[in-house]
Order: sequence, then structure tokens, then C-alpha cells
Amino acid sequence: MKIGIDIVDDDHKQLFALVHEFNAAADAQGGEVSGAQMAEILTRLQNYVADHFQREEQMQLEAKYDGYEENKRQHEELTRTLSAFIAKHKGGGAGAEARTATREMREFLGVWLSQHILKTDLKMRGRILPWAG
Ligand SMILES: [Fe+2]
Repeated sequence: MKIGIDIVDDDHKQLFALVHEFNAAADAQGGEVSGAQMAEILTRLQNYVADHFQREEQMQLEAKYDGYEENKRQHEELTRTLSAFIAKHKGGGAGAEARTATREMREFLGVWLSQHILKTDLKMRGRILPWAG
């Protein structure tokens, strides 16, 4: 899922690493990430996503990318979806409730991340010169 712009691809690696960290925590704990741990990992993810979107948008502005407005709109939508999902799940408690929250969060993160990369960012490929990164 490489876009071909180093700054973007490096960021995406970090995003995958954070999602992987969440999944690994779930696997290590029988599919149950506690509310506190979930909040900790997801807050880091949320902060990183905010930084990443800002970097992408800045780079697009500098490159005069014609998909900037659409990309920004999708970033805002994805940010809202992520925030709402995190708000719903980060107080996941323990036991069955936490396992359900963990499972839903895990599915959501996988879809959300690939949606960002495949639907939004892949359009940049070949339309922003590598020197822009
Ligand atoms: Fe991205």
C-alpha cells in the first residue's frame, strides 16, 4: 500500500505500528484490552493521526495538489469517525464488555486505516512529485 512519497509512507508505517500494538495487546490478553490500556494506545494513535493529516495537507498545499479540498474533507470525516469510536470504546471496562469493545475496535481500526490509505491517499500517487516528500 505504498504511495511513493516517503514522508507519507513513513507515517503510514507508524500508523500500522500503532494499530499492530493494539492488536498485539489484545492477543496477549485473550482478546481483552482494558479500558485504561485502550485509552492509552488510542490517545497516542489519535495524536499521531492528527499530526499525520496535518503533514499530508501541508505537503499537498505546497505541491498545489488539486485533490487537496477533497482530501481535507475526508481527513475531517475520518477524524470525527475515529474520535466517536474511541469515545464510545475507551471506557471499555473489563470482562465480556472489554472483549466486545476490543473486537469492535480492532475491526474498526483495520477498516479505517485501509480506507484512509486506499481511498484518500492512493489518489496522490503519481500526482505529487516525490521531491514534495
Ligand atoms: Fe495518510
